Amino acid sequence: MGLVIPLEDSKRRASASLEPLLDLVAADMQRVNELILSKAGSNVSMIPEVANHLISSGGKRLRPMLTLAAARMFNYRGEGHIKLAASVEFLHTATLLHDDVVDESEMRRGKLAARMLWGNQASVLVGDYLLGQAFRMMVEVGSIEALDVLSTAAAVIAEGEVMQLSVAKNMSTTEDEYLAVIRAKTAALFSAASEVGPIIAGGDRAMRAAFRSYGTNLGLAFQLIDDALDYGGSQADLGKKVGDDFREGKITLPVVLAYRRGSDQERDFWRRVLEKAEIGDGDLEKAIGLIRSHRAIEDTVERARHYGSVARDALAPFPDSPHRNALIEVVDFCIERAH
Ligand code: IPE
Ligand code: IPE
Ligand code: MG
Ligand code: MG
Repeated sequence: MGLVIPLEDSKRRASASLEPLLDLVAADMQRVNELILSKAGSNVSMIPEVANHLISSGGKRLRPMLTLAAARMFNYRGEGHIKLAASVEFLHTATLLHDDVVDESEMRRGKLAARMLWGNQASVLVGDYLLGQAFRMMVEVGSIEALDVLSTAAAVIAEGEVMQLSVAKNMSTTEDEYLAVIRAKTAALFSAASEVGPIIAGGDRAMRAAFRSYGTNLGLAFQLIDDALDYGGSQADLGKKVGDDFREGKITLPVVLAYRRGSDQERDFWRRVLEKAEIGDGDLEKAIGLIRSHRAIEDTVERARHYGSVARDALAPFPDSPHRNALIEVVDFCIERAH
């Protein structure tokens, strides 16, 4: 069961990939990865054990690549972008450790989630350690603006996760409320990761605003696709379980749309499974069937395309360059991705 996303011009164009971006920042990214491994170290042996389990399981490293490419696009020649990119990935990694506890998820990046091996307590605490390490690196860089943007993002992500908790199991959640959640829990970090590029490179207000907008809208598109994949993707591609959102009673856009477009009987079904959490055999398949019959996956992807276009246009005024073009291709990658 794969997610099939129709591309208007799929016949004319090879599918988008992260490769151009990876190639451009490969040397920097190697240093970021080394820094990540070294800063995940501690004399308290459980810390590197838990952290390295997640770090060595891969991950796309999308957010730190945004930071590196944005800094390089403005001809940054210093060293600060390496530490900022590593802190961005640490904020993300810490969030994942915490998120899997909150969501009671069993798998992450194709492996058992850290909480399944070391427990919830260790996952939360090691996440806290990584957050602390992220802030130490930001302070070392010494840009108060970068520190401002990234610390704000850290707080906003937590707000988003709490906001999500408060709308969980509530079928009257609107599309706007859902958007506010994903803007905070996901788009805020994409935005900060992008904006610290021009910040460290001494870019002006307009450049910062453009990258903030690019990151925010890319992040919205990214999470919309993630939520579509949770019903329309495959575990093998995702490295996490399909239907996690369903089992948690999470009200994501595919559900918001299917609920609103459904019959009274269908709405009774959604309330039983998501609000009362009375989930039986075959209910996930039924949910997927309803989502499909109301074209809720297609329309979620359509929303993602919209935000993707906004992200692309944010970078349109900049002169043609390999970095700008690779960042634009990331938008298509995020929309077409199956993992
Ligand atoms: C997962 O992000 C969390 C979401 C915002 C959906 P990624 O899909 O970027 O996770 P990794 O780092 O590649 O595993
Ligand atoms: C991921 O959110 C974590 C944050 C964005 C804070 P989700 O819970 O929606 O994503 P997955 O499915 O666990 O990766
Ligand atoms: Mg989760
Ligand atoms: Mg979550």
